[in-house]
Amino acid sequence: MKNDQPIVIAIDGTSASGKSTNAKLVASKLGYAYVDTGAMYRTLAWYCLKSRIDIHDPKAVGQLCKKWKTKLMCLDGHVRLMVDGYYPEKEIRTAETSAAVPHVAAVPKVRDWMKQKQRDCIQFGNLVMEGRDIGSNVFPETEYKFYLDANLAERSKRREAEGVQEDLAKRDQRDSQRSTAPLMVPLGACVVNTSGQTPQESSQHIIDTFQEQFSNRNEPTAS
Ligand code: DC
Repeated sequence: MKNDQPIVIAIDGTSASGKSTNAKLVASKLGYAYVDTGAMYRTLAWYCLKSRIDIHDPKAVGQLCKKWKTKLMCLDGHVRLMVDGYYPEKEIRTAETSAAVPHVAAVPKVRDWMKQKQRDCIQFGNLVMEGRDIGSNVFPETEYKFYLDANLAERSKRREAEGVQEDLAKRDQRDSQRSTAPLMVPLGACVVNTSGQTPQESSQHIIDTFQEQFSNRNEPTAS
């Protein structure tokens, strides 16, 4: 990334590894805008259901994505994808939308569209962006990449505490084996194991690492 461009901190990782909690804390402590890219995929899944589009038909999903009316807005430091002027905050978290979103997220045309929209978020300045392919695909040029993980037992416990029963081992396999933009540790990413850590501890570790990388990068070189 060039020196005069906004900074992007990419936070990728497995499900329930603490991406959202950490990304929000890091963004708020640094005063950067927070982008939840999963919410953007969820918004499209919700819109497909609402428009009665068959989520198992990649062509129909791709066509809808090409023509839906959306706008990016930054409210209280959170970037949101508005549809027809509306942000479906609760609707995108229902069990129905959660079941539909992996199908929508696997469509190559959808991933191309999302990548462009996610790159457009730079209009809001410095960003903390969380997802599955941010450091590997959306902003591969950023120097600040983090990959969060935690042991399976702890991740399953966190999901249960949220009231969600999910086979995370299966989800990991599906996320990392899909053909388009699979979940992977981006090249050069700092891997953070959040097992046994509080969000305060892990987010502080991310901030300390980022600040160290930032100052090393901007230190004048001796001539
Ligand atoms: O993080 P989440 O559960 O809200 O993500 C919703 C879905 O979107 C999930 O199936 C993973 C997918 N996703 C993705 O493929 N790429 C991203 N950058 C973010 C989420």
